[in-house]
Amino acid sequence: MPEKPWYHEAVFFQLNVRAYVDSDGDGNGDFRGAITKLDYIRSLGVDCIWIQPMYMSPWRDGGYDIADYTDIHPDFGTIDDFHDFLDAAHERGLRVVIDLVMNHCSDQHPWFQAARALPNSLYRDYFVWSDTPHKYEGARIIFLDVESSNWTYDEIAGQYFWHRFYSHQPDLNYDNPDVHEEMFRIVRFWLNMGIDGFRADAVPYLYEREGTNCENLPETHAFLKKLRAMMDREYPGRVLIAEANQWPHDLLPYFGDGDEFQVCFHFPIMPRLYMALKAADKTPIVNILADTPPIPAGTQWMTFLRNHDELTLEMVTPEERQWMWANYAAEPRARLNLGIRRRLLPLLEGDKRRWLALNALFLSLLGTPIVYYGDEIGMGDNIWLDDRDGVRTPMQWAAAPHAGFTTGDKTYLPVIEQAPYDYRQVNVAAQENDPDSYLAWMRFLVAARQSQPSLRSGAREWVETGDVAVLAYWRRGAGEPVLCIFNLSDSVRPAGIAPEQDMRDLLSREGRVYPAGQAIALAPYAALWLVGAGA
Ligand code: NOJ
Repeated sequence: MPEKPWYHEAVFFQLNVRAYVDSDGDGNGDFRGAITKLDYIRSLGVDCIWIQPMYMSPWRDGGYDIADYTDIHPDFGTIDDFHDFLDAAHERGLRVVIDLVMNHCSDQHPWFQAARALPNSLYRDYFVWSDTPHKYEGARIIFLDVESSNWTYDEIAGQYFWHRFYSHQPDLNYDNPDVHEEMFRIVRFWLNMGIDGFRADAVPYLYEREGTNCENLPETHAFLKKLRAMMDREYPGRVLIAEANQWPHDLLPYFGDGDEFQVCFHFPIMPRLYMALKAADKTPIVNILADTPPIPAGTQWMTFLRNHDELTLEMVTPEERQWMWANYAAEPRARLNLGIRRRLLPLLEGDKRRWLALNALFLSLLGTPIVYYGDEIGMGDNIWLDDRDGVRTPMQWAAAPHAGFTTGDKTYLPVIEQAPYDYRQVNVAAQENDPDSYLAWMRFLVAARQSQPSLRSGAREWVETGDVAVLAYWRRGAGEPVLCIFNLSDSVRPAGIAPEQDMRDLLSREGRVYPAGQAIALAPYAALWLVGAGA
């Protein structure tokens, strides 16, 4: 058997450099600061870091509005600092992937500046222009709280330009082969520097075709395959991860025949984890996994509970969305676009049992999981900040001024000061030596997963429990099979399972054993990962 690729079983960590540590006192996290926290990241037991955009940018969309693809934003340091960060991560056995934003750039990018000002310039055709705003009307608007059209009239150009996101983010024109070459040049630039791959942003939208919804088009897949082929040829072993917020049957083509993305985020499972936990009903999880097709050998799903965006509710029905809003975002301000701008622990009403159960579920269910910075200590949010800023606040390191994030006197966004997520209470230093802290539990959970090959990549086999509130499955692969059982409800439940042999719970620090033949009773929100007691 060929060796499994590294990304197949990895645990990822999502790092927002601006939010992490400020080494020079200007109020912005930077690479020199992040280097000092690599040992902390390593201590979580993760294998790979995804760095959110760190490119030169006017920063009107968290850096997803790039003005120079081969330079670092000065707030974050220099290219040399980035290089040092990469080396320091690699020295610790941590891999690093970065964002690759191919669909659009900033309107401040010199390409767009030239394109709008000079109709005859080569760059005009780098973008998608029209004399009317009535083309491609089948395409939905994504940032619908802010944008009313995917076309914006540009006075200088005298034409409308196409954008799937903010009107300051013109889409690049993939019908122009020069754009392919530009992207290849950018991709090579970073791969030559030694990064381990890319999280490719917004990949469904690269092409536009009349009469379609302008998503997942065959031309888009053809380009992505061409990119992968180039990477395989020139940089074997690097990974391409797709951010495609789509239904499972539309996601499948992003794996191609194993010749497109190696990894795709599984968007639809995420809201259903929250649904199941709130409704004490596993049905949404079971149904979406039943709808999830097998994927080509060597490819993998990536799962997440939260990230830097709103908790997206695009991949649910309108009724489910209303239900999620009613149950998780009763305060209207918590809603944003088709989602919810809250962090993990506040969504769970600060309930540690639910935090543990949901993390244990997500770390054992399928694919390769990614943990969002701060959620490992149960950081809070601030829904009153603009856009998605409320889930992007400074990391809370200590009860020191500015949460120990900076030695300066300002921060790029306010730190969380409101109880119960106040940085004086919720911070790394306070949790570091508390064996019952969120941080200690996160390390324990990740280590438990990492120790079990079956959890990392085994097949899943459902176990009938006779109770919609009790979810159970075996993970079977190399090594010991693991029986995972979750009580999604707030009441004591029989698991409906009596093990055939003595079973030890990997999630019990005391190594609790469930004796053979005895029915298992589950505490509210219990999560068990059971292995044979002899194992
Ligand atoms: C997806 C990113 O996660 C989000 O933060 C960004 O605003 C859009 N893509 C546009 O790049």
